[in-house]
Amino acid sequence: METVGSREEERLFLCVLCMLATLLPAASSCPPPCLCDSDRLLVDCGGRGLSSLPPLHLLPPGSRSLLLANNKLASLGASAFANLSSLEELDLSNNYLDNLPAGLFRDMSNLTRLTLHNNSLTVMDRDLFQGIGALQSLDLSLNGLSSVPLGLLDELQSLRWLSLAGNRLHGLERAAFEPLANLQHLELGHNPWECDCNLRDFKHWMEWLLYRGGKVDAVECTLPKDLRGRDIRGVPVEMFNYCLQLEDENGGGGEGSRSGQGVPPCSKNALNPSGATPITDNTDDSSSNARGGEAPSDCVRTRYRPVSVRRAIGTVVIAGVVCGIVCIMMVAAAAYGCIYASLMAKYQRELKKRQPLMGDGDGDGDDREDKQISSVA
Ligand SMILES: *[C@@H]1O[C@H](CO)[C@@H](O)[C@H](O)[C@H]1NC(C)=O
Ligand SMILES: *[C@@H]1O[C@H](CO)[C@@H](O)[C@H](O)[C@H]1NC(C)=O
Ligand SMILES: *[C@@H]1O[C@H](CO)[C@@H](O)[C@H](O)[C@H]1NC(C)=O
Repeated sequence: METVGSREEERLFLCVLCMLATLLPAASSCPPPCLCDSDRLLVDCGGRGLSSLPPLHLLPPGSRSLLLANNKLASLGASAFANLSSLEELDLSNNYLDNLPAGLFRDMSNLTRLTLHNNSLTVMDRDLFQGIGALQSLDLSLNGLSSVPLGLLDELQSLRWLSLAGNRLHGLERAAFEPLANLQHLELGHNPWECDCNLRDFKHWMEWLLYRGGKVDAVECTLPKDLRGRDIRGVPVEMFNYCLQLEDENGGGGEGSRSGQGVPPCSKNALNPSGATPITDNTDDSSSNARGGEAPSDCVRTRYRPVSVRRAIGTVVIAGVVCGIVCIMMVAAAAYGCIYASLMAKYQRELKKRQPLMGDGDGDGDDREDKQISSVA
């Protein structure tokens, strides 16, 4: 009886060992050279000098944070983060990433915080953020981005915090930001903003964001010169004037044929709607205006010109009427003066003719004449 009992105990012990053996590697697996904090489900691979990703299939299951900051990562494969659906935070800041493949974060449906601060990103594929609709915080600051392609932010409807500070943005398209219905904080500082008609539309969107309680940091204009250093939110009238001025300058160049209106400089420096490389470096290229027909439709919307033209015409008409009235009054006064003077002259002449007949003294007549003249004067 005893032998049977000990055999059963042995079997139980073996079973427990087996279970431990299967559990242990899973619990203790951690991609070298990272540190894994099993309490916080955090995997810290920061500052390890990595130029390629650690073996992420060794990531403890259920990991929430993956920190890869301060490494030398320069590129990532399209499926680098495949199957990492449990991650909620991914930090890739201070690396050398210059181009990220479309759909890189496709599987990360639980990601709420993505940091790409201080990399070398210059362009972003419009499908880059596909599949991360839960994202709440996106940091793209300190990169070389010169455009935010239309469609890039379409899925990020939960986004609350976005930084585009410290890039090379000179304009943004309103339509690219309209899907961000829950945005509360937007950082745009330290970009070479060109406060022209393109940015005006985005500015309206920014004002709407502020109106519903959002926050935007200072957007300082770099161009035009007379607005340099000014915060775009404080220069509505000047911006408007600048647009008009540009329209007038460009309108003279054979553009008048199109329904009598010059085309606003919308195609100039506009972000390419297709999301590819933006039209830049042609700031003094008037040929871009020749393609006015391709200008994005929101450029056409931004035409405030008819109102101002109407106002200008009104001013001219009023000025003309006032001038006319003054002129008529002056002519009337002159005519009155002339008629009065001629009447007086005639009267004097008649008076002189009558004097000899009446036989009055010479002195008397002279006195009367003097009185008359003085009264005329
Ligand atoms: C992701 O998981 C699936 C099955 O769950 C597996 O077939 C595939 O190889 C995994 N991909 C990567 C990159 O680990
Ligand atoms: C994603 O998050 C939800 C809620 O926090 C959680 O229930 C779910 O298990 C997570 N998905 C994965 C794959 O971890
Ligand atoms: C940006 O990253 C580089 C290289 O990783 C680093 O040397 C530099 O200090 C970082 N700059 C900032 C402002 O974090």
